[in-house]
Amino acid sequence: MELIDTHAHIDMLEGYPEFYIAQAAENNVSKIIIPAIDAEGYPSIVELAEEFKNVYFELGLFPSEVEKWDDEYPVMIKELSRHPKCVGIGEIGLDYYWDKSFIDKQKEVFIEQIKLANELELPITVHDREAHEDVLSILDEYNKGSQVVFHCFSGNKTFMEKVVSRGHYLAIGGIVTFKKADELKEVAINVPLDRLMLETDCPYLAPVPYRGKENQPSYIVHVAKEIAKLRNMKVEEIAEITTKNAERVFKI
Ligand code: NI
Repeated sequence: MELIDTHAHIDMLEGYPEFYIAQAAENNVSKIIIPAIDAEGYPSIVELAEEFKNVYFELGLFPSEVEKWDDEYPVMIKELSRHPKCVGIGEIGLDYYWDKSFIDKQKEVFIEQIKLANELELPITVHDREAHEDVLSILDEYNKGSQVVFHCFSGNKTFMEKVVSRGHYLAIGGIVTFKKADELKEVAINVPLDRLMLETDCPYLAPVPYRGKENQPSYIVHVAKEIAKLRNMKVEEIAEITTKNAERVFKI
């Protein structure tokens, strides 16, 4: 069995990332993608991708950091994106939970980065927190051809249907294992399998039985197991399909 953690902030884990990468490899996690938050973090994620053959990275500016966006940012992203292990633009999007006073700036920077992904022919990893309709309408209007993954998908079944009808993907993480996550469980049951990926979003959102602890890529198997159980499938089947989807979209 082979699993891919499509969204793991291994640069933010306590201790040595080497330890978590080794743990992941021992637990069938064949590849790990590290999303970016801001430029201060780029050197460490590039370094991890250069040191470990199964680690890849994305570039972008996270919605809560959009005040940092300036003319230098797209130049820097373009230049670094030539790195052979850069596999996407992320995580970018809108976060209305964090702070609504920056909505216009968040939208502006999201749009700029969508255009950048299109120009660089890279997929987009979307962060959407309490901003479902705005994220989708901006993608509808501005995205010209990049594949899109809604990371840590948090919409309901109706929104999932809208997302997949556009050909976008969703990545599901540890929340699906939580007892009261009825809406996400319903999404996991109904999402077309060719649109589904797995992630941990570590160090956050550890799945049951590690809920509340620091998350890590090796825990992703619990997400796969839960989705398999919900869909009455074998965990190996969920692993195979989601791995293929991630390999296809991120070209890894
Ligand atoms: Ni994240």
